[in-house]
Amino acid sequence: MSLAQIQSFVGYLRQHKIFEQADIIRIVKQMVQLDRRIGLLAVSRGYMKPEQVNVILHGLLQRIDLKFGEAAVQMEFMTAAQVDELLKLQANDLFLFAQAAIIQKAITPEKMSEILKEYLKTAPQPDDPATGSKEGTMSGRKMREVLKNVQSVAALPGPAQKVLAMLQDPEVDIDKVAKLISAEPTLVATILKVVNSAFYGLRAKVNTISQAMVVLGLKKIRQIILTAGVMQKFQDIPVSQALKIWDHSITAGQWAKEIGLKLTFKDTEEMFISGLVHNVGELIILQYFPSEYRQIQANLTAGKSQVEAERQVLGGTHADLAGFVFETWQLSADTVQSAMYHHHPVVQLAEIKTLSKHAVILNLAVALADIECEDSFEIMARAEILYDAYKPLLGNIDVDFGPVFTRVESGVKELKRIFA
Ligand SMILES: [Fe+2]
Repeated sequence: MSLAQIQSFVGYLRQHKIFEQADIIRIVKQMVQLDRRIGLLAVSRGYMKPEQVNVILHGLLQRIDLKFGEAAVQMEFMTAAQVDELLKLQANDLFLFAQAAIIQKAITPEKMSEILKEYLKTAPQPDDPATGSKEGTMSGRKMREVLKNVQSVAALPGPAQKVLAMLQDPEVDIDKVAKLISAEPTLVATILKVVNSAFYGLRAKVNTISQAMVVLGLKKIRQIILTAGVMQKFQDIPVSQALKIWDHSITAGQWAKEIGLKLTFKDTEEMFISGLVHNVGELIILQYFPSEYRQIQANLTAGKSQVEAERQVLGGTHADLAGFVFETWQLSADTVQSAMYHHHPVVQLAEIKTLSKHAVILNLAVALADIECEDSFEIMARAEILYDAYKPLLGNIDVDFGPVFTRVESGVKELKRIFA
């Protein structure tokens, strides 16, 4: 099972406003069941009746050496060809997702097949570096285990999710948003702390959410709520580990934003968000898969790279995980892509035709945030060397890293103070 493939399909569905977040979670849960139980699939295809499935399951209790399909053929409930077909379908993520959506009555079979046809015209090929998925069956099986936890993994705390969903609508009623935020003390506290920080240098103190919304603007409010929501969701992670990930993320976000500014990109706040959340997949592994996390650590100690170590244990990487989860959080397509490709080597980025410049900048920003060095001059020198490799992908524009680095440094300092 490839998480990247499901992510790509979910992204397509979201883009065309076909399902809500709650539908996606429901469908993925159903999909995991279908994937594990061939009987359910047989019933949904009309090959067997539910009572026949029960007869077989009962029989299997006595014959643990027998497989469901073999038993169904022996009892003449299904033909061998039908079992073969079901096994093939079971290995097809898109089919499973579609079937699960139909069983959940989220869509009609006719509409689903229409959508699938359209999607397949534009879908990335399985061996395209863009899908990043070359997992074997063994690792695929592990990824199913990950998806079983979709309910807890793929949801932000309720209030944050609600506000973010409201802010998706460009014609949202601002008073309603302010009211919703005002009912959440943690969100109120964070927003007021940000708006009253030295960063904004306001003379008079802002005391209400409505005022803060005027001062900060909706984009900044969205950014703060997302950050607060993510922090709240992962509050069980040991502070030292969480801090390390946040430090790196804030730094990557600042680099992305400042480079974006230099390259005259419009939405540099979105670049900051992409940096801030790009490693959420790591937080997910830490919080929801502690034993897998330990295995990954053992792999790292044995000399494997992070990507290799995670693929071996989970069947996918923290980047794949984040891409999938961000689709359900309805983050922007650029932020989803940035998370998915932040560990791809720069030489591979050029091969991915659908990759946005936003994602390229984020990949560079992550590499810059990875520089472990105290000496400012060395950081700038290394930044310039790194940038040379990305320059052709970003319009061959020259960047003077001196002022960029100074702004990154001061921005990071201020952000750490705000979110401490
Ligand atoms: Fe990462």
